[in-house]
Amino acid sequence: MATVQSASPRLIRRTALAIGTLVAIVVTFAAIRVVVDWPHISSGTPPDDDFAERYVEHPVLAYSHIAPGVIYLLGAPFQLSRRFRTRHYDVHRRLGRILLTCALVSGVFALLFGIPLAWGGALEAAATVVFGIWFLACLFIAFSAIRRDEVSRHRRWMIRAFAVSIGIGTIRIWVGIFEGVEQAISRGTSPATPDPVMFGIAFWLAFVMHVAIGEWWLRRTPDLAG
Ligand code: HEM
Repeated sequence: MATVQSASPRLIRRTALAIGTLVAIVVTFAAIRVVVDWPHISSGTPPDDDFAERYVEHPVLAYSHIAPGVIYLLGAPFQLSRRFRTRHYDVHRRLGRILLTCALVSGVFALLFGIPLAWGGALEAAATVVFGIWFLACLFIAFSAIRRDEVSRHRRWMIRAFAVSIGIGTIRIWVGIFEGVEQAISRGTSPATPDPVMFGIAFWLAFVMHVAIGEWWLRRTPDLAG
């Protein structure tokens, strides 16, 4: 059996920094989406790239995923902080209902947008099915656990849900790495162009990494700590 230890303050600080960085990346890309898409959505003009086209043509599907997802990602770190939970238990409960609703809506629309309209093709669509359903399943199990007062089980499944959702920031890091490698190989002679296959691979790499990190964190921290 693995030895269960509590997370050291240094590990908690590093984790908080990593989470802060990933949330900042996601919020930045969500803001870029709004800036790029909004003029086209409001004027009814098509954008000139096929990536943005889907967001402009299906704003309800796209933004019903992005907007509640951003609210969830901004609020969830507080919910997962032991200090916040113990000091503000009432806020934790009330905020929890709002964030859970946001996460469920975002997860359902990830499937509705990401499966039929995947820019990264079958690879991205398949990753969306697997990890989108995993995200929703974690939320459902976490909710049913707390309804039965199973606090420790609730914590474990909420950590799993958050770990996979924050993978959306790591996708962008992988896309950046792929573009950097492509530029280095072409010695800067061709501009880095986003590639649908690379985008699909980035989905798989990021989400698998995040599910694994979530499991590692759960083994590393004892029940209700960290
Ligand atoms: C809950 C937190 C989440 C937030 C804040 C979020 C945010 C975003 C943002 C900002 C985009 C636009 C991407 C861009 O323009 O660069 C996006 C797209 C997308 N997200 Fe999420 N997301 C979240 C969770 C998830 C989850 C759990 C999945 C399931 C696998 C998912 C699947 C997708 C898909 C398939 C797309 C479309 C990518 C494309 O353009 O083809 N997201 N999301």
